[in-house]
Amino acid sequence: MTMRTAPAEQPAPPPNGCPFDPPPLADLLEQGEPHAAFGALRTERPISRVALPDGSWAWLVTRYHDIRAVLGDTRFSSDTTVHGYPVSGMTGGAPHANRGFIRRDPPEHTRLRRMVTREFMVKRVEALRPEIQRITDELCDAMERTEGRERGGVDLVEALALPVPSRVISLLLGVPYEDHDTFQRLTATLLSRTVPDDERAVARSELHDYLDRLVTAKEAAPGEDIFGRLIVEQQRTGGISHDEVAAFASLLLIAGHETTANMIGLSALTLMRAPEAAERLRREPALIRAAVEELLRFHSIIRNGPRRVATADVEIAGHLIRAGEGVLVAVASGNHDEDVFADAGRLAIASPNSQHHVAFGYGIHQCLGQALARAELQIVLGTLLRRFPTLRPAVPVEEIPFRTDMAIYGCHALPVTW
Ligand code: HEM
Repeated sequence: MTMRTAPAEQPAPPPNGCPFDPPPLADLLEQGEPHAAFGALRTERPISRVALPDGSWAWLVTRYHDIRAVLGDTRFSSDTTVHGYPVSGMTGGAPHANRGFIRRDPPEHTRLRRMVTREFMVKRVEALRPEIQRITDELCDAMERTEGRERGGVDLVEALALPVPSRVISLLLGVPYEDHDTFQRLTATLLSRTVPDDERAVARSELHDYLDRLVTAKEAAPGEDIFGRLIVEQQRTGGISHDEVAAFASLLLIAGHETTANMIGLSALTLMRAPEAAERLRREPALIRAAVEELLRFHSIIRNGPRRVATADVEIAGHLIRAGEGVLVAVASGNHDEDVFADAGRLAIASPNSQHHVAFGYGIHQCLGQALARAELQIVLGTLLRRFPTLRPAVPVEEIPFRTDMAIYGCHALPVTW
């Protein structure tokens, strides 16, 4: 097998334009491909180099099995402070010492993740279903009462897609939901790819101050929630510091609402535009679990990574990735790899194969909140299909503001009527 290497000092131009500018969903649904460039890359250059905004470059891995090989190999580090980590063009803020465990390696990653693993286990999440259903019903009742749906429609993102996961994660963590304007606004700034760095730094510092005050308040009166347990069981016994509790808060709060909200919006739109699939789900509600896996595969909303840096020379599918070189792992491409998902561009809501998707990543950093995300998606989409059988977009699809400017794909707003 030939080894292809690249001199680390030579930034390469992107092969087919930057493959991280996703097209509007309309193209996506018609072409059935998250990004046309990925298809060509998977066949022609499955591991190629991409230029990052600052002129540096990283490897872009596009095939399903290569993606799993990288994400499953701990010689690829998640630590943003390791030299060579591809930070350019990444959202969220500059690498810093007090980062969440998503940006740490073992043994620290293992130690910290273990502190909250049980909070997100399937059994725990299953017990939450009645509460998620109650929140969903309450928001659907409010949606039904909204006036003016004939004139311009109701924004499904504001009415349902964003509040369900925000309220659920606030409840679990013990964050006052009244603060949702603050944390949603700051998250949106941090995850934007178009906000200037200085504006993002201001948002990061505002979020830091907000979480710092929150943790201080919780320290004085820890409740029956994730933060309460972290403070009593870990902080008071010397396992973690005040700042580390705040780092948990930042990671779980951001990851816990933004991702699922976008999946709810995109999935609702997809089902509105695929009436046969929607009708089948109404007839066979048990199919909702498989449908959610397929929607996760189909949309693969994480569009700027995950990212890693090699800490040793590693060979992946005949390519040598040298220590210190950055890697962008295109899970959105892996989920459309025809070698694994036949007819990957078509939505197949009953396909048993979809469950092998890598939308939640793979390996030790695989999404901690996946059981929660699944339950929320199943409940919200199932309820929408049942209660709003005539739901449809209130504007032409071309007028829907898609999040081409964000690290996590979705719709900024989704006007609907019924
Ligand atoms: C549809 C919704 C979601 C998607 C598509 C998603 C996707 C992902 C992906 C791809 C990763 C891996 C990152 C990496 O390898 O670097 C990840 C990690 C993570 N996710 Fe999610 N996620 C979702 C919902 C959630 C929710 C609801 C939570 C709740 C708290 C959550 C919490 C986390 C955490 C804490 C990690 C870091 C895990 C680790 O580093 O060990 N996610 N997620």
